Amino acid sequence: MSGLESAEGGFVKNVELKDGSKVKIRYVELDDALGLLEMYNSLSQDTIYNRFFVFRGQLSLEEAKKMAAISRKDEVALVGVLSRGDGVKIVADARIYIEGNIGEIGIVVHDRWQNKGLGTALVSELIREGEKMGLKKLKIYCLPDNRIMIHVGEKLGFKYSTSELGVIRMILELPSGRNQPID
Ligand SMILES: CC(C)(COP(=O)(O)OP(=O)(O)OC[C@H]1O[C@@H](n2cnc3c(N)ncnc32)[C@H](O)[C@@H]1OP(=O)(O)O)[C@@H](O)C(=O)NCCC(=O)NCCS
Repeated sequence: MSGLESAEGGFVKNVELKDGSKVKIRYVELDDALGLLEMYNSLSQDTIYNRFFVFRGQLSLEEAKKMAAISRKDEVALVGVLSRGDGVKIVADARIYIEGNIGEIGIVVHDRWQNKGLGTALVSELIREGEKMGLKKLKIYCLPDNRIMIHVGEKLGFKYSTSELGVIRMILELPSGRNQPID
């Protein structure tokens, strides 16, 4: 795996997955709306349910545009992209929703790219993002039978417990803590 800062100051990291394929992890961009739409609308119902805890219909273009046009103040979003002849294909979307000094992670890796190490790489990068922002804690909610998410979380240091609603809440205390409040 290798990482570098792009000329624009944006984050770029290239990861090689367990099957040898190469995926770039970078911040989401405005132009990613269609790529996000394509990815979300080709996920299996199981993956959608594990991500959103409901079976939901197709993502609309408006929703995809909102996901691509985030304010870096209250959300950080990374995408996993593959280069292909005619451009790029988004295969994963991983975000931190920030509230005060706590961040909640929401992550999805497209079915075809699961179990190859990409989820682990993305959560590792989100931890780094959380530390850079001075967040105190990161949390992830997932369903109790989502063994893969629980395994990835535990591997990266998250402690888990069952929350009031019967879902699993995983918490990682970050060493930095917030230096300055986000206003
Ligand atoms: C959860 C998710 C993000 C993980 O991403 P991923 O790319 O598939 O994960 P990785 O390949 O990095 O890691 C998977 C790990 O689970 C392990 N695993 C696979 N099946 C498992 C099982 N049944 N029980 C326990 N661990 C399992 C793998 O061995 C691997 O661990 P290792 O690298 O230590 O060997 C992805 O599966 C996903 O998008 N799921 C649907 C959405 C979701 O659940 N989001 C979380 C809630 S927001």
